[in-house]
Amino acid sequence: MEYSGKLIVFEGPDGAGKTTQVKLAAERLQRQGYSVVMTREPGGTRLSEVIRQVLLDPGNREMSPVTEALLYAGARSQLVAEVILPALASGKIVLCDRFVDSSLAYQGFGRGLDLEMLRQVNRFALNGLGRFCTIFLDLPPEEGLKRGNKRKRDRLEQEDLAFHRRVWEGYHLLIKEYPERIRVVDASSQPEAVHRQIWKHLSAFLKGSHQGGVF
Ligand SMILES: Nc1ncnc2c1ncn2[C@@H]1O[C@H](COP(=O)(O)OP(=O)(O)O)[C@@H](O)[C@H]1O
Ligand SMILES: [Mg+2]
Repeated sequence: MEYSGKLIVFEGPDGAGKTTQVKLAAERLQRQGYSVVMTREPGGTRLSEVIRQVLLDPGNREMSPVTEALLYAGARSQLVAEVILPALASGKIVLCDRFVDSSLAYQGFGRGLDLEMLRQVNRFALNGLGRFCTIFLDLPPEEGLKRGNKRKRDRLEQEDLAFHRRVWEGYHLLIKEYPERIRVVDASSQPEAVHRQIWKHLSAFLKGSHQGGVF
């Protein structure tokens, strides 16, 4: 699909700084006159936020891994149709906090679901979405969990460290698999230093010297 806008996704373990960095990038882009849409997963639309409540509620202990994967894909599909594709069509820059790589990392490597099945379901959910750029904020899960413990942990954050290790290792396999799309930044330094690394990749993508890739 061709459109004039650009999608930039922020990925990484809990506490890596995704929310912080989406805001810093959005502020800088807006100062430069870009029209920016900020969104997050799961969520970003009324329906997707309803699905988010179901996914993250620690009370939903009986949820099967396949149900979890399909609910994520459902929330994503609505976000793509209702927010991302229209914004890209009107030339906007979309910054998204988590996207398809989270499903491969958490439901695939974390839960052990079949990766090829997850890819197919998610390709279906993306509804023809074209090239995008993914910024991976690299931080060992132990470090991220230490940073992020200020609020009550949601259903996925409550998983044990072994789960979060598998997720992190999974992300690293995805980085090898999608080198044209995923850019890695070291998320262990101060927020401003992380932002500078991100900005290099982001501006290359906006200028077209980095093409990004499809899922
Ligand atoms: N580079 C950083 N160094 C130290 N702490 C950070 C950094 N970036 C964010 N934080 C803090 O770590 C916590 C998690 O950051 P957040 O942006 O919410 O991460 P995420 O959205 O990836 O879970 C927050 O309290 C935030 O203020
Ligand atoms: Mg966050």
